[in-house]
Amino acid sequence: MGAVEQTTAGGYLEAYEQALARAPMSAFGLVREWMRTDWRNLFAELRERRPVFVTPAFTVVTRFADVTEVLSHEEVFSVRAFGPRLDAALGAPFMLGRDATPMNWREKGLMQAILDPGDAARVRDLTGRLADDLLDAALSGGASDGSVEAVGALFRPVALAVCARYFGVPGPDQATLSRWTRAVVADGFANFVGDPAMRAASEQAGAELVGHLRDLLARHRADLAAGRDLPDDVFTRLVRSSLPAGTGLTDERIVTNMAGMPLGFVESAPGAMAEAVEQLLLRPDVRAEAVAAAPDPDRFDPYVWEALRFSPFFKLIPRLCERDHVLAAGTPRSTLIPAGTFVLAAPASAMFDADVVPQPEEFRLDRPRHHRLFFGSGHHACLGVHVAGPVIAETVRRLLLRPGVHLLPPPRGRVERSLGIFPDAFVLGTGAKGQEGR
Ligand code: HEM
Repeated sequence: MGAVEQTTAGGYLEAYEQALARAPMSAFGLVREWMRTDWRNLFAELRERRPVFVTPAFTVVTRFADVTEVLSHEEVFSVRAFGPRLDAALGAPFMLGRDATPMNWREKGLMQAILDPGDAARVRDLTGRLADDLLDAALSGGASDGSVEAVGALFRPVALAVCARYFGVPGPDQATLSRWTRAVVADGFANFVGDPAMRAASEQAGAELVGHLRDLLARHRADLAAGRDLPDDVFTRLVRSSLPAGTGLTDERIVTNMAGMPLGFVESAPGAMAEAVEQLLLRPDVRAEAVAAAPDPDRFDPYVWEALRFSPFFKLIPRLCERDHVLAAGTPRSTLIPAGTFVLAAPASAMFDADVVPQPEEFRLDRPRHHRLFFGSGHHACLGVHVAGPVIAETVRRLLLRPGVHLLPPPRGRVERSLGIFPDAFVLGTGAKGQEGR
């Protein structure tokens, strides 16, 4: 199936080494900038020439086996790379901030039971109705040329409405909940230089989110005590649930775990939708096939998963190496990673490793599920996967069921991202208002 040219421009390692000899700080900045803007070509060169890319500031891991090795050894490669910042924002430990603790084991298990995979059909149905209403509004009231800014008109409001109606976290209003999550997630995952303003904004936003959830919990408790009906959502299920005495599911633990729902979802779902739509529309033959398959979700969804392989929302997953570890032991890539190393495992690169993923440049629908790393892997694999999958796929499906959706030429048609990660805007052409659908 049609492939967009994925050329290896090359020359990154030489440019890096020259910069390193002149000014180390600028060399790290260069690599960070490439990882933001030119990651595909950078990773292709690293996989081939320097699969474990050691710099004095961080180590980038690019091959499939090595990325999964990092992500499955939580006792060696810990989330202390960002966990303390999440804890500081929430004022309490959260599962994604701790490794292999009894609390992590217990609460992930509980939250897995509460986020019942059996909810997938209900969530998909909800998403479909939300997406259609938003698309109707956007297409009838949008720009005079029929273009639609999909992040603001569709992706983000779908995620926020699912967060309100399925998770039971509406926020005081959508804009505030969005601002809180962005501030916390940005500091946790994109504040590479430790900017104090980003840190302060995260702690302020986290405190406001936690305060809001405490109020909501108090209201749920009062409603339960008064015998009033509660809606069936994740929050109310958690309020009604119990763990054996002594295992510590206090109200504060409920609040912390509920805070993790918007934090896990409100940026990453719109981000993944934008990535998937862009990858599908970049390939005219793939787009045509996906549109033809769109009436049937079972046929359509594999297009979305393959699109996300080409461009996952989380391209890099940070870890801190806790003790000396030989990565890829017994292979030519074998590398000692000393304790204290900041490690960036790159799923975006791993899913293009031809040793594991055959003909990675080809857009194929028959790839096995274990080749997909866009929901993470190992100890911290995504808790929300059974909900997030239907939300992403159904939103993209409803969009592509509208006739004439197409990419606009750059710069207008580019996905705009803050900090190179968070989706801000994606203007799409549509067949509406006489605009030529392509
Ligand atoms: C239903 C919505 C979602 C919720 C509630 C959610 C929640 C979470 C939580 C709590 C974790 C940490 C699990 C742990 O520590 O064991 C996690 C991990 C992760 N999630 Fe999600 N998530 C959601 C949607 C998404 C989406 C849309 C994506 C991207 C496509 C995503 C990608 C990831 C990744 C890559 C990890 C691993 C992070 C790591 O290993 O450091 N999640 N998610």
